[in-house]
Amino acid sequence: MTDLTLTRRGMISALLAGAAVGTVDLGMPFSAFAANIPGGRVDAAIKAAYDRFKDLKEGKNADYIPALAEVPSAYFGIALVGADGRVHEVGDTKQLFSIQSISKVFTAALVMQESGNQKLEETVGVDATGKVFNSIEAIEQYKGKEMNPFVNPGAIATVGNVKGSSPDEVWNKILKIHSDFAGRPLEVNQPVYKSEGDTNQRNRAISQLMSAYGRFPMDPAVAVDLYTRQCSINVTAHDLAVMGATLAFGGRNPATGKRVIDPSHVPGLLAIMSTAGMYDDTGKWLYDTGLPTKSGVGGGLVAVSPGKCGIGTFAPPLDAAGNSVRGQRAISDINTALNLNPYAQFS
Ligand code: DON
Repeated sequence: MTDLTLTRRGMISALLAGAAVGTVDLGMPFSAFAANIPGGRVDAAIKAAYDRFKDLKEGKNADYIPALAEVPSAYFGIALVGADGRVHEVGDTKQLFSIQSISKVFTAALVMQESGNQKLEETVGVDATGKVFNSIEAIEQYKGKEMNPFVNPGAIATVGNVKGSSPDEVWNKILKIHSDFAGRPLEVNQPVYKSEGDTNQRNRAISQLMSAYGRFPMDPAVAVDLYTRQCSINVTAHDLAVMGATLAFGGRNPATGKRVIDPSHVPGLLAIMSTAGMYDDTGKWLYDTGLPTKSGVGGGLVAVSPGKCGIGTFAPPLDAAGNSVRGQRAISDINTALNLNPYAQFS
């Protein structure tokens, strides 16, 4: 099949004309506009971004979790998955690293799937706090309310909202939803889990304080341990691209065909990524790219262009806000090259 670049109008005409648009799944919420981006253009765009930024030395690995400081800073991988579920990739896209804060998206998805969209809104909040991701001041200011699932107090409270009669049951669900999003069984990076568990006094304080404000039902020590484990799940840039694409196509993994979450939860998740996914720099990032994106201090980024693609990057050195320097630059270039910004779809 010849790849076609289809505008919305062109797409509808093509559908009406019965043209071959093989990768479109009419069962998906964005399907009417889910055109496959031509593979050649994707490969050229990711390769150009890789070549442009591979030698960029800006930023510094996170070191407040000692194991993250040990990861070679030169790693750089970019992957993109469109409607056909094919993974386009360049660089170190098979290198495992800890997912860190990116996991917050998928545990929030689990709670929404189990308990509905209102649950998080009522128990955790969905507002940007305007403060750093592990701010204690924000908890005090809002008495544990008006957090969101992507800052640490809200993320730990989100874990506390997963249904289960034992920590193991909750953990198995958390690992399963991450694996379903990635389309393969994921595992925990044990050295990172131990390293973070030995040094996470601040998160333990956050969980105790949230618990004092009655913000979640689970024992706070258990919740923070499960949260630490979820942040230590190993992924690759390839995995993140598939996970992002699962969100881009309404909760159905385009690589495996499996429905992971109901489409009704996706707009809310993307909205929280848009307002709180890049910490203190979220507004600037959204202004520049329009892409709902989530970062992790392990050096990963996942960006979503609804109905078009998911992008995953890995490059450990971070900027002052805690976001991967080369990952941001690469996604920004790819966004422009492939016209992915949801706020710039005018044709
Ligand atoms: O709780 C923490 O500090 C880490 N497990 C995750 C922080 C993180 O990834 C923030 N990201 N930019």
